[in-house]
Amino acid sequence: MKLVSLSQLKQDITGKRVLVRVDFNVQTDKKQRVLENELFRLEKVVPTIKWLVKRGAKVIILTHRGRPHGKFVEELSTKYIVEDFEKILGKSIITIPGVVENFVYDSVKKMNNGEVALLENVRFYPGEEENEKKFAKKLSRLADFFVHDAFASSHRESASIVAIAKYLPSYAGFLVEAEITELSSILQKPRRPFVVVLGGSKCHTKMPLIEKLLPHVDAILVGGIVANTLLKSAHNNIGSSIFEEDFVSIGKLFIKSEKVFLPNDVVCDNIDTKKIEAEVKNFDEIVKTDRIIDIGTKTTVEYANILRSAKTILWNGPLGWIEKRQGSHASEALAEYVAALSTSSKVKSVVGGGETLSILSRLNLLDDVTFVSTGGGAMLEYLVYSNLPGINPYIKK
Ligand code: 3PG
Repeated sequence: MKLVSLSQLKQDITGKRVLVRVDFNVQTDKKQRVLENELFRLEKVVPTIKWLVKRGAKVIILTHRGRPHGKFVEELSTKYIVEDFEKILGKSIITIPGVVENFVYDSVKKMNNGEVALLENVRFYPGEEENEKKFAKKLSRLADFFVHDAFASSHRESASIVAIAKYLPSYAGFLVEAEITELSSILQKPRRPFVVVLGGSKCHTKMPLIEKLLPHVDAILVGGIVANTLLKSAHNNIGSSIFEEDFVSIGKLFIKSEKVFLPNDVVCDNIDTKKIEAEVKNFDEIVKTDRIIDIGTKTTVEYANILRSAKTILWNGPLGWIEKRQGSHASEALAEYVAALSTSSKVKSVVGGGETLSILSRLNLLDDVTFVSTGGGAMLEYLVYSNLPGINPYIKK
C-alpha cells in the first residue's frame, strides 16, 4: 500500500496554511501536565510539524482528547497540553480556543509564516464523530492543505480525518507513513521465527488478531484477560478471575493450536481475604475466590525462552493487571527482555497499545524497541484488516 505522503508535497508552501490532524489524546495529572508515559504521542509528530515550519508554512494543529461527544468539557481542553508540546517542539505555540468559529478563521489569517497554532478539542463539535461533510467543509476553510498524522485515530471515521480529505489537497504525515510501513512489513515479510505477545483485555479486537495471525506466526504468547478467557475455553479453573464470556466458545478453536501458549502457572490475589501478598499458583491450587492478576514465574521463564529464538516480536497488551504492583512483574520482566533482545541482536520488535507502552515508558525502554506504534485500537485493527477507514483516503490511487 502506497500512501500520498507529505514528502510528495513539492510546491512552495511558504505562507500557506496547513491543517495537521494529530492524536494528542493524552491524560493530564492534577497539575494539568501531560502524564509522562504519554508524552511520546506528542513527540512522534514533531518531524511532520518541523518539516512544515522549516518550509515557512503556517501550521494549524488539530486534535481530539477523550470522548466529550460534541460537548465542551473543560478538563479535556487542549489548552492543558500546550506547555508540554511547546517544550517538546522547542517553539512557542499560539493557543486558539476554538475550531470553526469566526474568530478562529481571523486568528489563523493573522499567523506569521513558520508559526504554529493549536486549536481546541475537535470532539467538542458534534460533526466530528459523525464524519459530517458540513463540518469537514468548515474545517477545510481554515487551510490550503491538510495533513493526517493521527495514526492512533485512523480506525475512527471522523470528519477531521476522513471527510476533510474531499475538500483539501490532503497528505499522510510522516508518523502515519511510518506506522503503515512498519505494520505492513510485519504482516507481509516478518523474519521468522515470528513471536506475538498478546495480553490485556478487549477480546473483541485480540481474538480476531489471533485468528488472522495464527497461520503466519510461530508462537502467540497470551496473558491478561485474553489468557483468562482462553483458559476458560480450555476448562481450566480460574476462580473469580475476570474473563470475557462471549469469547469462550471461539477460544476453543485457538487453544487447539500448538502455536498458542497459555500460562501454566499464575499469580493470584483473593477477592475475599484482605491478604496483601499475591501468590503464585498452579491451576489445581486455585480456590473459588482467587483472581488471576499475572502470569506466574514458570510461565514468564517459558515465554522468555520462546522470545529468545525470535527474529520478529510483536507485542500488544500487558500480561497482567498492571495497575496492581503485584500484577505487573511479568510485563516488566518481559519488557526488559524484549528491549535487551532488540538492542543486542537482530530482533525486530514492534510494540503498541497504551498500557504496554506505559510499562516501557516507566522503565525508560521506549527507545530500545525497534518500533513503537502510537496506535492501540488502530494498530490492532490495521493488523487484522490491513486497512483502516482513516487511511483509505490517503492511499495512492
Ligand atoms: C486512542 O487513544 O486510541 C485514539 O485517540 C482513539 O480514541 P477513541 O478510542 O476515544 O476514539
